[in-house]
Amino acid sequence: MPARQTPLLALDERDRKLAGHLLAEFLDDHERNLPDVARIVPDVDRDVLTGLLQEPFPEQGIGVERLFRKVSDEILPNSTAVAHPRFLAYVQGPPNGIAPYAEAIAAAINQNCNFWQLSPAASVIERSVISWLAGLFRYPGTAGGILTSGGSIATLNALTTALHDRRPDFRRTGLQDARPPLVLYTSKEAHRCVEKAAAILGLGLDNVRQIPTDADYRMRVDALKAAIQADRAAGLEPFCVVATTGTVTSGSIDPVEAIADVCRDERLWLHIDGAYGALFVLSDRKREAFSACARADSIALDPHKLLFAPLEAGCLIVRDSEKLRAAFAVHSSYLTVNDDPLMLDFMNYGPQLSRSFKALKVWAALQTFGTETFRKAIDHTLALAQYLAERIQAEPHLRLIAPVPLTAVCFRINNASDADHTALLATLASEGTALLGPASLNGRKGIRACITNYRTTREDIDLIVNRLAHHARTAEPSLPG
Ligand SMILES: Cc1ncc(COP(=O)(O)O)c(C=O)c1O
Repeated sequence: MPARQTPLLALDERDRKLAGHLLAEFLDDHERNLPDVARIVPDVDRDVLTGLLQEPFPEQGIGVERLFRKVSDEILPNSTAVAHPRFLAYVQGPPNGIAPYAEAIAAAINQNCNFWQLSPAASVIERSVISWLAGLFRYPGTAGGILTSGGSIATLNALTTALHDRRPDFRRTGLQDARPPLVLYTSKEAHRCVEKAAAILGLGLDNVRQIPTDADYRMRVDALKAAIQADRAAGLEPFCVVATTGTVTSGSIDPVEAIADVCRDERLWLHIDGAYGALFVLSDRKREAFSACARADSIALDPHKLLFAPLEAGCLIVRDSEKLRAAFAVHSSYLTVNDDPLMLDFMNYGPQLSRSFKALKVWAALQTFGTETFRKAIDHTLALAQYLAERIQAEPHLRLIAPVPLTAVCFRINNASDADHTALLATLASEGTALLGPASLNGRKGIRACITNYRTTREDIDLIVNRLAHHARTAEPSLPG
């Protein structure tokens, strides 16, 4: 048989070997060089970036070797080193080690995780990941869910499900009828994705109640009850509470058990925003704090945070998967689907039709490292956060401004202004000490280190606190320098 010609957009054997070799080299160098990256946020080369923006795409391709060189010379140096051990800003962990390989395989086999004939094994793998996650919260066998692009979309899908559950004719009527406006309750410390979802769904921000929090930044259940009563008295219709297990700023955990009692008594959907915190359920030390999540109707969580999956991997789990299906399943004459009890058609459990094989990277990491390694990684971040909190408490010029129930550590420098704190964040980044984030609690600004990084060590924490103490002494001239 004559040798087949290389198809137009395929690589020939030589280029496949070259690309494999260059990719392996790139990943090796990236891993080795990470701790020595001088600046976590790069000193951006504007000329290079302008070139990337303005250069026309070549009529004749540059080929594999020059492509890799362009990535190493132009893209990598202008990228934030999110996997650096002292990248402690926001809630973002470094990707786990097998992730790039799993992503490459997912791209190669390009399963379309919409209906099972286009992705039979992928459908089962997504089911297995979701049922493992649901099991962590002791959800019943009726539970199901879907992997999403992140926690925000998981919460949007959850609120869509809650809406359909409350108004089964919602798909036909929308919210444009004479019934009372629906009201959603969350806390002042909730992530903005809750408001965003309410706005997208047409609930209206005027119908979102931000319930005040207690001294530890947890939703006040007495205030929740009072708000529900006031809304009912005003002729409105309470329908859903979003509790947070791990608020984005301080990691506070709302009193889910008591909130679940209110939801049961008032017949409200209870959604948990666990994008940051829910996967701390994997820690023996923290599991108890999440036991009441079993009572929630739905939980949003983020494998791209505490399972260290590369972006994007969020997840929604719903206690009764039929409710999720009722919200999203539509019949399409152009899709021929035969039911099979082993596989699911994930297009019926969310808004997307074409969907990537996100479950592979989560599954591959669980297989490669085993669940115990994830427990250890999570415990490691918890222990480091406690260590950081202790070191801050021991420094005379620094002060914690919130308890540290998980891994977010919020603090201030005594006698420094809000502007000083903003400036200090920039200094820490530019001198290469660390990338920390801003915190705002009760209207006061501070600094937040969120340890979602399995690469961080005690030495990294010491280095950060020592620099902080140095800058704090400088900020307080009356104290010894
Ligand atoms: C509590 C909480 N909810 C929601 C989100 C949003 O998650 P994502 O960025 O995956 O959409 C975050 C992100 O940090 C979060 O901490």
